[in-house]
Amino acid sequence: MINFKSVDATAIPQLMAIETACHSHPWTLNTMSSCIGGRYFNLAAFNGDTMVGFYIGEKAGPDFTLMDICVAPSEQGKGIAKQLLNQFIDYGEQQNAENLFLEVRESNTPAIKLYENAGFIEMSVRKNYYPSDNPAKNGFEDAILMGMALGLNFQ
Ligand SMILES: CC(C)(COP(=O)(O)OP(=O)(O)OC[C@H]1O[C@@H](n2cnc3c(N)ncnc32)[C@H](O)[C@@H]1OP(=O)(O)O)[C@@H](O)C(=O)NCCC(=O)NCCS
Repeated sequence: MINFKSVDATAIPQLMAIETACHSHPWTLNTMSSCIGGRYFNLAAFNGDTMVGFYIGEKAGPDFTLMDICVAPSEQGKGIAKQLLNQFIDYGEQQNAENLFLEVRESNTPAIKLYENAGFIEMSVRKNYYPSDNPAKNGFEDAILMGMALGLNFQ
């Protein structure tokens, strides 16, 4: 049984453990610390007392951005990211966000599928946005900017 709750700065070690296990180029401790509180919001998934995933979002007026979403490798493929992402969307709706945005590496097929299945669409490409270790990429990789409009719900 997975439980969900927001976390504060005391959870940074758990967030960083998942972050570094999940990403080829993880956020630094400083970046993670700067994304807790203020205009940032989050939700973490727990199996008992163990954090198994999280998302971090940012509010900028009517635009909410999904900054990061991760599920611990041993817990992937169980629908946890889908639940986290659905709750990010629900939170945006509750808070009257007009647009949801995110960026994703062009090679990150699992994440792109996750976002497409939830209703995000590709909006544009940011060239050479991410660092990359792939020699074919010359040190950089494109980001796909995806979005979802919540403010077009005419009745
Ligand atoms: C992307 C990530 C968050 C998915 O987490 P997850 O808990 O395994 O995902 P879920 O089990 O909830 O799967 C939800 C959907 O994602 C997609 N998906 C997940 N893993 C996939 C894979 N290996 N291949 C293709 N699609 C995949 C599918 O659409 C899936 O829905 P379905 O099972 O109905 O087909 C996880 O792989 C991860 O943490 N990756 C590293 C961090 C990262 O890249 N984050 C995104 C940054 S933009």
